[in-house]
Amino acid sequence: MLVQRMCMLGFLLIVGIFQIDVVYGYNRPPPRKNLVIPNSGQNSQSPQQVHISAVGQNMMRISWITDSPASAKVSYGPSPSANASSATGTTSSYRFLLYNSGSIHEVVIGPLNPNTVYNYNLGDPPFSQTYNFKTPPSQFPIKFAVVGDLGQTDWTKSTLDHVAKSNYDMLILPGDLAYADFIQNLWDSFGRLVEPLASQRPWMVTQGNHEVEKLPLIHGTPFTAYNARWHMPFEESGSTSNLYYSFDVAGVHVIMLGSYAPFDSSSPQFNWLKTDLQKVNRTNTPWVVVLIHAPWYSSNTAHQGEFESTGMKASMEDLLFQARVDVVFAGHVHAYERFTRVYKDKADNCGPVHITIGDGGNREGLASKYIDPKPDISMFREASFGHGTLEIVNASHAQWTWHQNDNDEAVVSDSMWLTSFSSNPSCKQ
Ligand SMILES: *[C@@H]1O[C@H](CO)[C@@H](O)[C@H](O)[C@H]1NC(C)=O
Ligand SMILES: *[C@@H]1O[C@H](CO)[C@@H](O)[C@H](O)[C@H]1NC(C)=O
Ligand SMILES: *[C@@H]1O[C@H](CO)[C@@H](O)[C@H](O)[C@H]1NC(C)=O
Ligand SMILES: [Fe+2]
Repeated sequence: MLVQRMCMLGFLLIVGIFQIDVVYGYNRPPPRKNLVIPNSGQNSQSPQQVHISAVGQNMMRISWITDSPASAKVSYGPSPSANASSATGTTSSYRFLLYNSGSIHEVVIGPLNPNTVYNYNLGDPPFSQTYNFKTPPSQFPIKFAVVGDLGQTDWTKSTLDHVAKSNYDMLILPGDLAYADFIQNLWDSFGRLVEPLASQRPWMVTQGNHEVEKLPLIHGTPFTAYNARWHMPFEESGSTSNLYYSFDVAGVHVIMLGSYAPFDSSSPQFNWLKTDLQKVNRTNTPWVVVLIHAPWYSSNTAHQGEFESTGMKASMEDLLFQARVDVVFAGHVHAYERFTRVYKDKADNCGPVHITIGDGGNREGLASKYIDPKPDISMFREASFGHGTLEIVNASHAQWTWHQNDNDEAVVSDSMWLTSFSSNPSCKQ
């Protein structure tokens, strides 16, 4: 209760601050109310909170929750069949203070064909509702939806509506999902809110500060809910932690880093990243994309100087630069900002493009104060809710677009063509 009240107080405080913040030009929409999505299942064994994530190039992990124990069985098949194959996985649960989670089921299915719609049913006997997903393509083009700091407000809903219409193949999320902040029912509510999208396309996520949920003396283990609910394919990439991992999809090597896992040069994450980058073969994956939560580059006044930004950048920027990473996405700052190619705070043609996309729609509202004057390396910045799409057309070209939720319409507000380092002889490693 106390935690709940403190969160509410913080929430009101933040809402207050942002509403009195008068900003130039654009008439910025205020934060919107929180949504709580109730369980509409027919009974306690009804599947809910269904989401999928890629495991290797041709497998998929199906995750869902039931209020009471049920079988972790998935029946699936290429559309229109939903029962050509089946697989059974595992069930787990967790406790957080007085909260007991439902049964969390996960099953890895496959091998699956690329760019193919599959139907699936959950449970044994299979529950009547049939879900479907489309596997990502095995080669270019591929379209990623990119959205950070989602939360579960009316703005989140608006963002998700736009993402749903974007015809994306895979969603990548640089941290801060549910904004449950210790109130575990909100993880369930978030799972229900995103299910219509996350049950249809792989959602690949990494953690933000709102996933930590560590309470000294009371609940000392961090990431309990996040790790139990959002199992990402870390084992397959040689990582020992769900907080950082990588995978290949359609010629793109995606690296999810953990801003809230140790990142110093003697940390397991650092050593894993070094090895992972060494293994990248630009013939097979011409593009390398990295996601973090706390941005290394930001000219917003919010979250300046945090160790997860400055310390991680000091530790890992050289690795990403030397490996010629193409683009780095971050969240945390609730706004949009795109930098030019940078390295060590200066424009550098061989450095990654850094993009902050922490504007998914969470209840804390927008971070609308910027450092003045705008640094030359910042190309575009604006505090509005929205999402991005990265459409990788071929081995050399990709189009990045930021879509602003302007009064519920998705408006293209920033767009650029990116060329890959694999196609750029002047930045040979
Ligand atoms: C799959 O479903 C179809 C249509 O309902 C049915 O005819 C078929 O026997 C089922 N196959 C299996 C293996 O259960
Ligand atoms: C990279 O992959 C290509 C194609 O699969 C292969 O021919 C080449 O030998 C690989 N390069 C290295 C350094 O392993
Ligand atoms: C890659 O796509 C870009 C943009 O559409 C196009 O200009 C270029 O010719 C393509 N390259 C190849 C090798 O097809
Ligand atoms: Fe954050």
